[in-house]
Amino acid sequence: MSNLSLLILPGDGIGQEVMVEVRKIIGWYGENRDLKFDVSEDLIGGAAYDAHGTPLSDETMAKAQAVDAVLLGAVGGPKYDDLDFSVKPERGLLRIRKEMDLFANLRPAQCFDALADFSSLKKDIVSGLDIMIVRELTSGSYFGEPRGIFVENGERVGINTQRYTESEIDRVARAAFELARRRSNKVCSMEKANVMESGILWREVVTAVHKADYADVELSHMYADNGAMQLVRAPKQFDVILTDNLFGDILSDCAAMLTGSLGMLPSASLGSPMENGRPKALYEPVHGSAPDIMGQGKANPCACILSFAMALRYSFDQGTEAKRLESAVEKVLADGVRTGDLMQASDGTPATTSEMGDAVIAALNASL
Ligand code: NAD
Ligand code: IPM
Ligand code: MN
Repeated sequence: MSNLSLLILPGDGIGQEVMVEVRKIIGWYGENRDLKFDVSEDLIGGAAYDAHGTPLSDETMAKAQAVDAVLLGAVGGPKYDDLDFSVKPERGLLRIRKEMDLFANLRPAQCFDALADFSSLKKDIVSGLDIMIVRELTSGSYFGEPRGIFVENGERVGINTQRYTESEIDRVARAAFELARRRSNKVCSMEKANVMESGILWREVVTAVHKADYADVELSHMYADNGAMQLVRAPKQFDVILTDNLFGDILSDCAAMLTGSLGMLPSASLGSPMENGRPKALYEPVHGSAPDIMGQGKANPCACILSFAMALRYSFDQGTEAKRLESAVEKVLADGVRTGDLMQASDGTPATTSEMGDAVIAALNASL
């Protein structure tokens, strides 16, 4: 097989730390499974700002457009709090999502058996949980115009606009229905059609796409506030949750805690197919740069490792190898290897980031 090209953007804070472990995994696949990656590395976020005065340079953007997949750590941190909004680290992330047109953000939340006791919810509510949030990622209130801080009647007013076109809703709805067909065949679409016109249109378009092409999939609709409550009350009622950019951001952090820790949640952001048939794609953990634990070897690398597993599955057609990696992570957790986010202080000494990565490598070796 020709080499697969992968651009690694570690970013800031623990993004850099968890990526060290993913590099080990990539090396393992090259040595043991003959999966060869042409890996290049570049800067994004605060690290790019420090080097170039911008959170994402045009050169890095062009590289991201040219590779088979991008793997990103996390961006941001208090060091950059006072920067002008236009050059904040998060702007780099939003630019890359927008310019690659990565409209479908897949955020699975799976509760590994070994962690069911650790969730903040009761074990029977989360054990066996396996849901997929499909978050629209390139539109909505994150990008709608008008936006800005203006002066009106002698005072400042902050404006963001929730805006969705029919085609933007249509394409992400299709992505959700397609995924559902490969899972438990159920989609719950969440918006606030009771108070927002964009929600009314969202519901209409999702219903029309369903009727026209996906009538075999079970579709339900829910107001997003109720959705948040239901996620905590009875999360196993869901299979695929389809929602917009802002609701998806919030609901996916909420879903993360069902699995035990934000440090466990991977994501894939997918766009339209490229000439080679592969979708444009960026993979990243759902968590951020975690300034409170950075530089201490405390970060859980699993979310980033599992993001690479998603790359194996969605960009490189290596579903079996993706499963191998996911099973390796599961085995490590079952063996009781835990970073601090997955244990109580009284449970003893947590594994460091690199010990966790090494344990995954050992589990991969054992899988051969
Ligand atoms: P965060 O996700 O960085 O951290 C929230 C909490 O979860 C913290 O207590 C942190 O220690 C913990 N946590 C997160 N990931 C962990 C991991 N892998 N292992 C162990 N513990 C983990 O969210 P925040 O504190 O709200 O944001 C910090 C910065 O990160 C901000 O600048 C924010 O904009 C940015 N951010 C970036 C991304 C991204 O790059 N995709 C996502 C979210 C937040
Ligand atoms: C996420 C993050 C980002 C978002 C920020 C850092 C731009 O919270 O990926 O969930 O809001 O989308
Ligand atoms: Mn978020």
